[in-house]
Amino acid sequence: MSSSEEKKAQVFDKSKVTVIFVLGGPGAGKGTQCANLVNDLGFCHLSAGDLLRAEQNREGSEYGEMIRTYIKEGQIVPMEVTIKLLENAMNAALAEGLPGEGWADGKGRFLIDGFPRKMDQAQKFDNEVCECSLVLFFTTTEEEMLKRLLKRGETSGREDDNEESIKKRFRVYKEQTMPVIEHYTKLHKAATIDATATIEEVHQKAKAVVEEVFSGQVNRNITA
Ligand code: C5P
Ligand code: MG
Repeated sequence: MSSSEEKKAQVFDKSKVTVIFVLGGPGAGKGTQCANLVNDLGFCHLSAGDLLRAEQNREGSEYGEMIRTYIKEGQIVPMEVTIKLLENAMNAALAEGLPGEGWADGKGRFLIDGFPRKMDQAQKFDNEVCECSLVLFFTTTEEEMLKRLLKRGETSGREDDNEESIKKRFRVYKEQTMPVIEHYTKLHKAATIDATATIEEVHQKAKAVVEEVFSGQVNRNITA
């Protein structure tokens, strides 16, 4: 995919492009919270899962069937595919620009939702694409997440919002995503937010944390 020369530099300039990863178990409310944060600070919200589903449904995609199988099984799609989709979406957003000072002079700010789900994705993205500034980590109980996902499944049309797939997603989350959160905690980049409260309460906490990033106080772990 990329030559060894390309690997030396990151694709995006960290002094211009701010990346915040948004993690949490399936059904923790990542997408909902991102949608609210977009309006607060002029983010571009990119959901890795949404990008994968769009690629799965894109006519002529060579990855469509592969993605479908991984998603149904709750497994993590090979990182090259997901990272390329994210990179393309970031480039498109930067080319188009968004209103607000956060997007002036080639700058941009991204909330990347549901990524990185696995250590290899975290390392490759930080080293080669753009080092993240913060990881928002939404936590709640498995019981609460299951309840939310089954409710969502009534209307989402998602092939993985059923009890069998959900159980698999919980297992993959514990085995593969929790180490990612531990990694960022060690780097003092993780902000843990209890997502059991109401959407608005969680939003206020998340907003306060994100505002700290833009005022330069990010180098510590936060629990809210
Ligand atoms: O985040 P979301 O729940 O939309 O993700 C749905 C599925 O997409 C995951 O269970 C996984 O199969 C796939 N995915 C992935 N890598 C990511 C994000 C999502 O493989 N970084
Ligand atoms: Mg989502």
